[in-house]
Amino acid sequence: MNSVKTQNPGASAEAIQHHYDVSNDFYRIWLDSTNTYSSALWQENDDLELAQLRKIDFHIERARAKGAKRVLDVGCGWGSTLKRLVEMHGVEYAVGLTLSLAQAEWIASFNHPQIEVKLESWLEHSPKELYDAIISIGAFEHFAKPESSQSQKLEGYRTFFQRCHEWLKPGSWISLQTIVYGNCRREDMSKFIGDEIFPETDLPTIADIAKASERIFEIVALKNNREDYERTLKVWLKRLKANRKEAVKLVGEDTVAKYEKYLSFSMIGFHTGTINLLRISMRRIDNPRN
Ligand SMILES: C[S@@+](CC[C@H](N)C(=O)[O-])C[C@H]1O[C@@H](n2cnc3c(N)ncnc32)[C@H](O)[C@@H]1O
Repeated sequence: MNSVKTQNPGASAEAIQHHYDVSNDFYRIWLDSTNTYSSALWQENDDLELAQLRKIDFHIERARAKGAKRVLDVGCGWGSTLKRLVEMHGVEYAVGLTLSLAQAEWIASFNHPQIEVKLESWLEHSPKELYDAIISIGAFEHFAKPESSQSQKLEGYRTFFQRCHEWLKPGSWISLQTIVYGNCRREDMSKFIGDEIFPETDLPTIADIAKASERIFEIVALKNNREDYERTLKVWLKRLKANRKEAVKLVGEDTVAKYEKYLSFSMIGFHTGTINLLRISMRRIDNPRN
């Protein structure tokens, strides 16, 4: 598979690979067995895997994707939602987009006739047929660069929603999950996270999403579940610490220490509401006014 060349309004393929292509085995140590890398949706007695599946099912339900012919997952990670769509929810064909070569190769190795992974940005995606539903979990965070002006940011997000609008059949839905700035300005964000963990990445605000989707998607439901991400991060960190020796063997002491710091910082961010976790259901507006 070739690397992606086109410029994104958000993080480039190189920046994405800096984070996601560290080592599949390393992520497998501390993520759950489905390799889901985003906030879970918890009920009291859940373990991590159950809470991840609950989250995936929530989005499948909110996107009205059950039994659908074609579903798109923008930012599909290691493919847990794609699998769940075709194996548990009767979806005929699921397409995933990722900028991570390691993830794309991982999903391609399923050799699943109903799953297709594309190593491309949403910006380059050009489907031959329309989709019945779109799910995007934990990818929107990467759709703007820190050096972009506010109007460039909004333009990039608007382009994303316009593309989704073009790709979807009338009357269909997007289920979107993303971290947003909460009680925090861009300049208050940790330089460490921006420089070393998620380069070329800037978060949206709730207002950016509302503005960028105005008159093409109708926001029908919106929840802020920051406590869910705090709990997810706590479990990830515990698992990483419990398997630290193995992690160090795979990626080295420096990388493990950086990840411990990043997971702890993020936990505090969600605990304090510096950052929030949104789950948004959006219905396509089929007759948008100019
Ligand atoms: C935090 S992971 C979430 C993965 C998955 N949705 C999950 O919940 O496990 C973010 C994903 O977004 C993808 N991504 C980031 N920017 C993208 C872009 N412009 N186009 C497509 N995928 C992108 C990454 O490659 C990665 O797969």
